Amino acid sequence: MMLDKKRSDALRQSAHRLLLSNRRQHDDHQFTVPSPQSYPFQWLWDSCFHAIALAHFEPDSAKAELRSLLTGQFNNGMFPHMIYRGENELMKLGDGFVRIEWGKEKTSTITQPPMLAEALWKIYEKDGDREFLRLMYPHIKDFHAYLLSARDPRGNHLAGIINPDESGEDNSPRFDSVLGLPPVQTLQENFSSRLKLVEELRRGHFDAPFMKQYFWVKDVPFNAILVKNLRTMGTVAEVLSEHEDATQFTAEADLVAHAMRERMYDGDCFWTTYGESYLKIKIATWAIFSPMYAGILSQSEARTLVDDHLLNPHEFRPRYMIPTVSMREPSYDPEGFWRGSTWIGVNWFIFHGLMRYGYRDIAERLALSSAELIERSGYREYYHPDTGAGLGAQDFTWGTLIVDMLDTLERPER
Ligand code: GLC
Repeated sequence: MMLDKKRSDALRQSAHRLLLSNRRQHDDHQFTVPSPQSYPFQWLWDSCFHAIALAHFEPDSAKAELRSLLTGQFNNGMFPHMIYRGENELMKLGDGFVRIEWGKEKTSTITQPPMLAEALWKIYEKDGDREFLRLMYPHIKDFHAYLLSARDPRGNHLAGIINPDESGEDNSPRFDSVLGLPPVQTLQENFSSRLKLVEELRRGHFDAPFMKQYFWVKDVPFNAILVKNLRTMGTVAEVLSEHEDATQFTAEADLVAHAMRERMYDGDCFWTTYGESYLKIKIATWAIFSPMYAGILSQSEARTLVDDHLLNPHEFRPRYMIPTVSMREPSYDPEGFWRGSTWIGVNWFIFHGLMRYGYRDIAERLALSSAELIERSGYREYYHPDTGAGLGAQDFTWGTLIVDMLDTLERPER
């Protein structure tokens, strides 16, 4: 392995320490805050990342993390992207946290990429607890059913998002044209236009078809993550002897993967689309690599993507991989939130995509780059791709996914 034992042990220890110090307990629910200073609540995909990292240390705490998400689930199956636990912590922050009124009292009314099944499976791999699979299974099944119905009203097998924040990449340039914003913009301009959208969302009671006139996007990572998680649900269903469900999950995964190819692929890359006629938004972000995570590409398509884009020093290969936006894009900003900086959560998705397609050496380099960022600048929200300087929130948990990358590399090859 590329890291000696001393370094990898130190990373494991610091990751575990961070997960412990960001741990919160409210009303019998245990969960982890992404950053005590900047993100004092529970977030949906963050909690899935936490569960994946925690599974390596304390599977029981990983389970608690997912279990506490269940309390937020809506009757229609949707999991909200935020659960507002711990108002007292918010008070302590004063003006430091800008709260968006997402339309409900205890939770937000939008969602985030569906990573629950992957987190569940990671825990099961560690401790083989079928009871916990059984507990989570119907909830995740309902969530996927919601995404494939309410978020796909025309039955085209792609799940739509109704706000950029649902992608998890709030101000990504993928959404600029939809919001009517230029490639070079301030964070404030972006924030204002997203707030306007939230007003429309509230007016339309967060109803997906209503939002068609304002923001109707089929995002590549969201759907790639859905494909991967549907397949994983197929595996979970088999373990639980739910054979019909297993067949159905696999069929649904195939349909989404097929629809992605039909509507998003353009001979080289998959592009996020906009509107009812699926206009491709050709802005090169890390999203072009996300189909590798879901195994949607052929081996030769993956090779083109890696050789021409991932390893291209003018696009995605600065000193610290992987910038969230291609360095060729006019919108590229190495210090901009989701506009070019390097995020370890994104590296984690790309890492697994590379492993899946047999690019172990590049995956190793990516894990090493992630490790160096943490060693150099600590657990920060994002990093400068050239200097490795830490940016954004402090004590931010996504870096703890390094533990999963190290573990994957150290596992004996099958
Ligand atoms: C930011 C990120 C989002 C994350 C949240 C909490 O809004 O863009 O993906 O879930 O912070 O960490």
